[in-house]
Amino acid sequence: MKKIRYYLWRVLGFDYQMLLDKTDYVLIKNDKFTQRGLRTYDNGALVWRWSNAPLILGKYCSIANDVRFIVDEGYHNSSKVTNFPLIDNLFKNEKILPNGRLKKEVLEEIKQKKGITIGNDVWIGMSAIIMPGVIIGNGVTIGANAVVTKDIPDYSIAVGCPSKIIKIKHSEEVINKLNKIAWWDWDLEIIQSRIDDFNLSAESFANKYYIK
Ligand SMILES: CC(C)(COP(=O)(O)OP(=O)(O)OC[C@H]1O[C@@H](n2cnc3c(N)ncnc32)[C@H](O)[C@@H]1OP(=O)(O)O)[C@@H](O)C(=O)NCCC(=O)NCCS
Repeated sequence: MKKIRYYLWRVLGFDYQMLLDKTDYVLIKNDKFTQRGLRTYDNGALVWRWSNAPLILGKYCSIANDVRFIVDEGYHNSSKVTNFPLIDNLFKNEKILPNGRLKKEVLEEIKQKKGITIGNDVWIGMSAIIMPGVIIGNGVTIGANAVVTKDIPDYSIAVGCPSKIIKIKHSEEVINKLNKIAWWDWDLEIIQSRIDDFNLSAESFANKYYIK
């Protein structure tokens, strides 16, 4: 019975876990507001959200186990008087607030950090947490257990809580070339035919394929 109900919800486009178990998280693959680039995979990462803010994942990203994307602040920072998300919590079943306004509209107007953008070819290590509003560039590596609170530039390695950049993988010139080459946009057959070139140094690869 549970299985049938699960599949019915899936057919209708709802996430069973989120709606029936009343949880605020969902697996990436079931999240309606996630855009996932070609060949990006995850091992059961979770998206936590209280709004429709987008999670955008580029192409060819590898997302390890237990990674959590916290896509918005859950309205905790909406009041200067309290931490408590009063409107969201005290008017759970109401559509109209005491001031006559639509609850949905008022919630949408609340300023909060929201949305996460991940570039192409990003590797996010096990149990990392990506905070709302963060933008992670192309080719970035995020260490296991990192808590990413700020934007991370292309081709850097960030670790720790709060995460700090410990290394930039290539020179500025090579990074610019790699971004322009954008191998992740190549057709699959092209990537397959050039597979050995991915063993070159980044500099040689960049020089081989960069066209001015
Ligand atoms: C981020 C990572 C790729 C760094 O690898 P690396 O470039 O070889 O870096 P090193 O191992 O040389 O470490 C460099 C420094 O960062 C520290 N460091 C490495 N990973 C760290 C992490 N996850 N958190 C905190 N510090 C870390 C090291 O202790 C070292 O510190 P030191 O300079 O003070 O000695 C790797 O450590 C990591 O976390 N990988 C993710 C693994 C994972 O989650 N796999 C899941 C399966 S897909």
